[in-house]
Amino acid sequence: MTRGKFITLEGGEGAGKSTQVKHLADFLRGAGIDVVLTREVGGSFSAEAIRDLWLTQADGHWDAWTELLLIMAARREHLVKTVFPALDRGAWVISDRFADSTRAYQGIGLGLGVDTVNEVYRLIAKDFEPDLTLLLDLPVEIGFARVTKRCGPDDRYQQKNMDFHQKLREAYLALAQKYAQRFRVVDASRDANAVAAEIEKIVRGHFGLLISS
Ligand code: TMP
Repeated sequence: MTRGKFITLEGGEGAGKSTQVKHLADFLRGAGIDVVLTREVGGSFSAEAIRDLWLTQADGHWDAWTELLLIMAARREHLVKTVFPALDRGAWVISDRFADSTRAYQGIGLGLGVDTVNEVYRLIAKDFEPDLTLLLDLPVEIGFARVTKRCGPDDRYQQKNMDFHQKLREAYLALAQKYAQRFRVVDASRDANAVAAEIEKIVRGHFGLLISS
């Protein structure tokens, strides 16, 4: 049995990841590929429980190190219970966020450092990395406007200021350069159909898939 592929979608708030992961899953399923759609933080029963514990608290409730360790504990559960078994049976796994979120949010955003995040990551995942990471990139103001429309101004993510989100955007773009082999940057400021079409094209090219849209 050929091992499946692991694709992750990353990006700041309002980038449209949830819409695009669904599009991508439909596209691959249409080509007869067995797809498991999942997310982080979460993606398994136990990891979702950690997500609830972590994300339902107000911003700043958790110490940054505790936050990192909670996320990594959830990731280990997600990998062992969901991702690895699916890949082993030949399914393709699409994850809405993965370790690059931790590198960006906790590593750069909270200041723990990408090297620190990588050290802890290696303890739980060794050298496992996605086969392809799609970074949905867009200006912070556009992302904010979209989230405000969807969730209203009290959404937890907006408790952080514009500078924080700008820092995140730059962190993601730096990661895309650092891990250029697996990263592709997609302009997510366009409408969802245009973004989906580009993602299909990238995925076809990256994996040499002979499927039409
Ligand atoms: P979501 O809105 O994509 O479900 O993500 C929830 C929040 O979790 C989002 O603000 C990003 C954050 N997050 C981290 O801070 N670190 C991580 O490692 C992951 C996976 C998510």
